[in-house]
Amino acid sequence: MSTNTCILAIESSCDETSASVCINGRIASNVIATQDVHRRYGGVVPELASRAHMQHIIPVVYEALEKSGCTLTDMKAVAFTHAPGLIGALLVGSGFAKSLALSLSIPLITVHHMQAHVLANLIDDPSPTFPFLCLTVSGGHTQIVLCRSPLDMEVLGETIDDAAGEAFDKSAKLLGLPYPGGPLIDALAASGDPDRYVFAEPQIPGLDYSFSGVKTSILYFLRDAMKKDPDFITQHLADLCASIQQRIVTILLKKLKRAAIETGIRQICLSGGVSANSGLRKSFIELGNAMHWSTYIPKMEYCTDNAAMIARTAHYKYEAGLFSDLSVSASARASW
Ligand code: KG4
Ligand code: ZN
Repeated sequence: MSTNTCILAIESSCDETSASVCINGRIASNVIATQDVHRRYGGVVPELASRAHMQHIIPVVYEALEKSGCTLTDMKAVAFTHAPGLIGALLVGSGFAKSLALSLSIPLITVHHMQAHVLANLIDDPSPTFPFLCLTVSGGHTQIVLCRSPLDMEVLGETIDDAAGEAFDKSAKLLGLPYPGGPLIDALAASGDPDRYVFAEPQIPGLDYSFSGVKTSILYFLRDAMKKDPDFITQHLADLCASIQQRIVTILLKKLKRAAIETGIRQICLSGGVSANSGLRKSFIELGNAMHWSTYIPKMEYCTDNAAMIARTAHYKYEAGLFSDLSVSASARASW
């Protein structure tokens, strides 16, 4: 049995089944099984996600243990994502983690998925110093978070309707692109003119976001253009993608800049699946340089849903003695 602090972490909140082992806070393995079954339905089907988690969870956990060089008996705690997410998907990870904690007689640690996305920035060096701001942009969430210390965070702003990833995916759908359309918009935008079309910019007070108006503005624009020319989308696809991407990126960074000015914080991070977007990454770095920020983006494996970020967060909770009772439940929505 190891004398190190080894923690096994499970992530199953949406359509990625992932397990990670961290040893004394350093990530020793991070295995992710992506569920391709949803592709043909144009979005994540909750029931299918739960079933796929059931299929993947044992092999993913064993692979994570093997890659880390640890065994189950080395584990000092088991952690899992308890919220937020698809409830059926969360229950698979929660049931598995609880059973393991019970059978190994080790503590159980619950981790909030959105806090873990923020702390993904602390997995590798260089990492931000406290306090820092993090813009978390994924298919399900868009949040600006103030992180004062690993376990002291505050949401300064978030979307009141669609998430940034949804805005990409729904816009892509309007253009006739398959799900998930975000990466396709990114690729097509590379050869397009971002100033060719101008879509609506929401006027939301404070640091909150809204993306539903952008989607409606794109919808009406395309409807009118297609009436005049049925081939409009195919003939102007690259310019449309570049213009849509530019609008979403501008909206995201405007509020982030405002948050940085209002808080006076210059340690600024990005996380979540949408941080793969090349336009967002480029503009984020450029804005950071212009504003004299220190900017951070975790490596891609830690931006999209993964258990390494759950393990990293769990390590902080382990050190703070924050364990959960076996009666703890998963929750689709959860306050911080
Ligand atoms: O964080 P993530 O992997 O899963 C969720 O927790 O939602 O984020 C997935 C989202 C999808 O909406 C996908 O279209 C978007 O991230 N995405 C992108 C890119 N890569 C992934 N959006 C724009 N450009 C990309 N390169
Ligand atoms: Zn996520």
